[in-house]
Amino acid sequence: MIIKGLTVRFGAFTAVDDVTLEVPEGRIVGLVGESGSGKSTLARAVSGLVPYTGEIVDGDGVQMVFQDPYASLNPRMTVGASVAEGLRRPTPADVERLLGLVSLPPQLAARYPRELSGGMRQRVAIARALGASPRLLVADEITSALDVSVQGAVLNLVRGLRAELGLSMLFISHNLAVVRYVADEIAVMREGRVVEHGPTRQVVETPVHPYTRELLAAVPRLPAP
Ligand SMILES: Nc1ncnc2c1ncn2[C@@H]1O[C@H](COP(=O)(O)OP(=O)(O)OP(=O)(O)O)[C@@H](O)[C@H]1O
Ligand SMILES: [Mg+2]
Repeated sequence: MIIKGLTVRFGAFTAVDDVTLEVPEGRIVGLVGESGSGKSTLARAVSGLVPYTGEIVDGDGVQMVFQDPYASLNPRMTVGASVAEGLRRPTPADVERLLGLVSLPPQLAARYPRELSGGMRQRVAIARALGASPRLLVADEITSALDVSVQGAVLNLVRGLRAELGLSMLFISHNLAVVRYVADEIAVMREGRVVEHGPTRQVVETPVHPYTRELLAAVPRLPAP
């Protein structure tokens, strides 16, 4: 997918300002930036949930996973029924395969969201999105609502899916440490604009924009993934 000169305005306020960004096939592009910088608005534009001006090339087949998996799963539907929703002709075997992709046991299909932990719910939300065979997965703060102890497991799942399925992904987080761990490339957003974009290592080791340096300074040092 290629985003070209995308702008989103809410009245007189410009939330996303002339953003150009490519998510190449099979790559994870991490989008980082402070609260209110326009990350979710860009994601919603890409998903067709908010009107924009500009151009999106190869933008069909986008599935989105949100921050709060409880809000995005129907509490009255079993896990199996939720996962089956994205499939055209769902079979129990398909549901089992999708649950397997996110490392959940098949017995979970009969359970309800309230019976699951936050991390499990987020895995179910990811499995449901994968069922639609998306060309691009947009993940907006998918670990932010999770307990720190399960965040790592969900991030490892994302990395595994990228390796296994060659998934293309726009991975959004305000947390640079999280983005750095999963992304091949990092785009830094500030006040509606992408101020820096490059391979993860380059952005982390030789940041060009002062704002990126500020973000990096706020992150505790991590071992290279
Ligand atoms: N529907 C809307 N109407 C008016 N303003 C909006 C709307 N949605 C978002 N905004 C504004 O657009 C700006 C960007 O919001 P957005 O949710 O995209 O930020 P974000 O980078 O995702 O922040 P966070 O890290 O807190 O999730 C904010 O100033 C927000 O108040
Ligand atoms: Mg947001």
